Amino acid sequence: MKQLHFRHLVNFVLPEKRMKEIASSYDVVDGPNDEGEMFTRPGILVDAFPSPYPNEESARYANGGANPPDLSVYTTAKHEGLDYIFALLLGYRDPPAGIEVRDGLYYNVYFPGGLIGMPSPLHSDGLVDYEDGTPCTKSQMAKDVVNFLCWAAEPAHDERKLVGLKAMSALFCGTFVVGFWYRSMWIGFKTRRIDFTKAVM
Ligand code: HEM
Repeated sequence: MKQLHFRHLVNFVLPEKRMKEIASSYDVVDGPNDEGEMFTRPGILVDAFPSPYPNEESARYANGGANPPDLSVYTTAKHEGLDYIFALLLGYRDPPAGIEVRDGLYYNVYFPGGLIGMPSPLHSDGLVDYEDGTPCTKSQMAKDVVNFLCWAAEPAHDERKLVGLKAMSALFCGTFVVGFWYRSMWIGFKTRRIDFTKAVM
């Protein structure tokens, strides 16, 4: 997830201190230093999520030639992205009779063409423990993954909408205030009649 940085998770997912610990547990390549060399340092909050693969070629090599996509903005970038990813995560089936699946491919009813290079990431129930005792089913995990990806695509979404709502409310109220002020200021002029006939003494 190239677009997401550790700092995005601060106070949304974990407190700052814990996120700093997690970030520093990753080695990040930085540089060049004064000697022109790249160097490795512990991650900090402003670093992007480290990629599991150093480059596209190694990602393809590790996944039988298929390139795992960057999921940072996938839910918004892809048409029906949320529903698609949810369905894809739960769409692994045994291939129907007559369909040959070569090594490194998996049959998924929701993937265009049916054969996908991604093994089922949520292959069985109970992969995580929910602290509140929620049953850890595949669909529950898929829902959480998709919700996370949706948030990750636009971390500032809620805040942006809230600011928009406040601005619209202020404009709405402002319209009435200005309208009232306008009428009260001009009422004397707008209802005045100026007559230019000669005054009769
Ligand atoms: C819950 C975690 C994951 C999610 C939500 C996820 C989601 C996705 C999505 C949405 C696609 C794109 C499908 C398309 O092109 O229409 C994809 C492709 C892919 N993913 Fe994952 N993925 C996850 C975990 C993994 C893991 C752990 C691996 C590696 C072992 C992996 C390897 C791949 C590969 C190789 C592709 C390309 C498939 C192809 O083009 O045939 N994914 N993934």
